[in-house]
Amino acid sequence: MAERNNVQVTPVQIEEQRSWMAQVRDMKERPRTYHIVTYGCQMNAHDSEKLAGMLEEMGLQPAEAREEADFVLFNTCCVRDNAERRALGNVTWLKEVRKQRPNLMIGVCGCMVQEPGMAEKLMKQYRFVDLAFGTSNLYRFPELFARAIEQRRPLVDVEEEDSIAEGLPVRRLRRDAAYLTIMYGCDNFCSYCIVPYVRGRERSRRMEDILREAQGLKDSGVKEIMLLGQNVNSYGKGSGTDFPTLLREIDALGIERIRFMTSHPKDLSDELIQAMADCRHVLPQFHLPVQSGNNEILRQMNRQYTREVYLNRVRSLREAVPGIGLSTDIIVGYPGETEAQFEDTLSLVDEVGYDSAFTFIYSPRTGTRAAGLPGQIPGEISTARIQRLIALQEKRQRERMARFMDQTERVLVEGLSKRSDRQVSGKGEHGISITFTGDETDIGQIVSVRITGQKNNTLLGERIQLA
Ligand code: SAH
Ligand code: SF4
Ligand code: F3S
Repeated sequence: MAERNNVQVTPVQIEEQRSWMAQVRDMKERPRTYHIVTYGCQMNAHDSEKLAGMLEEMGLQPAEAREEADFVLFNTCCVRDNAERRALGNVTWLKEVRKQRPNLMIGVCGCMVQEPGMAEKLMKQYRFVDLAFGTSNLYRFPELFARAIEQRRPLVDVEEEDSIAEGLPVRRLRRDAAYLTIMYGCDNFCSYCIVPYVRGRERSRRMEDILREAQGLKDSGVKEIMLLGQNVNSYGKGSGTDFPTLLREIDALGIERIRFMTSHPKDLSDELIQAMADCRHVLPQFHLPVQSGNNEILRQMNRQYTREVYLNRVRSLREAVPGIGLSTDIIVGYPGETEAQFEDTLSLVDEVGYDSAFTFIYSPRTGTRAAGLPGQIPGEISTARIQRLIALQEKRQRERMARFMDQTERVLVEGLSKRSDRQVSGKGEHGISITFTGDETDIGQIVSVRITGQKNNTLLGERIQLA
């Protein structure tokens, strides 16, 4: 308990930030418009919604294009090298834009800034950046923004502290579906992963704060909430509560659809599986990253489960929630991965039959244990492996999708289909994209659809006319 209180940002500190927001609003010379460029996972997407909320409270308006904004903020990711390079490349591109528009203000925040040595690098090599801050002091953005505007020279502020801040404004991108963070950080230290270093130690929000936010979302007409955390099923660790309990409490609020991510297989308890089966509003879908199908690689990755334990969890999930939609994350080319070890991953993918899989080539991250290991796998071998993996997964995916033929799915319509403005698409309750005939008026509605076919990763269907 004591530990949790230490990380809680006090109401007085939040009040301070509110007065900084008021100060910025009253400034005569300040940016009038903003644009946020977001990389990375849902955590970052939701952080961007919080940053947008604060910016609008400070009187800034959103600009459609980054070229038009007075303030451009890059919310970065560093989980793999290409994510980081893309972010830095775009920041550099904006330097050119500034030559035409000297008043343009550039900010960089998010996980990359939290990497060891990155703040110094930004100060030295990216001197045109006006403001850089990390993930743990995000709640202090109004103050940092105000100071950066006033002092007119670069401001870098990165903290190591872990924090939980309640009561700051949020500008949500969608009205029908919303992110809701339940815990921050990660303590798992998988040997390849930088997230624990840039997102800090695991800390859970208070249950009453989460329930209040969920109720507020429901009252504002939100139909689907996505509970977020790097490891949601270790929610509440050490504080006498747990994720299954939280899930049941949220389910009781009566929000139409509840999803969550990400779950770690080692913390997937029988209680959680039972809660999945019992909770009416929790959707029949589960994201369960496996990373590898080989026990030796799993051990080296510090995943703390075996292939057998993983497969057993999948069986239990399928028994409790028949037809459940299953997705995963997989890494190929972990240092020292042999051909035979990679083939264990293929056989696992074949055996499980995922509805979708995110596949990645291992990317060494400075400071992580795996980065220093011998036996780094050459790029062409990893590329060949990932192609084989993707081909197998696509085949299994098509086979799995056949189970939906003639079945009814309830689709939360996200928008017009990319191909045709007479088609709409959204996710069914099993987490799979579904396209059917419709128009703008369907957006944000839940529509019952009979599945008639499939195309690539998408199911095709037709609307069921309700009598
Ligand atoms: N907390 C989540 C996801 C974290 S990052 C989890 O534990 O599953 C999302 C995915 O990125 C991971 O599941 C992993 O598959 C991948 N990933 C993380 N670090 C990586 C690295 N160094 N190289 C390649 N992929 C990585
Ligand atoms: Fe990274 Fe592992 Fe934590 Fe996921 S559980 S964020 S992969 S360290
Ligand atoms: Fe990237 Fe940070 Fe998410 S490193 S994957 S944005 S937690």
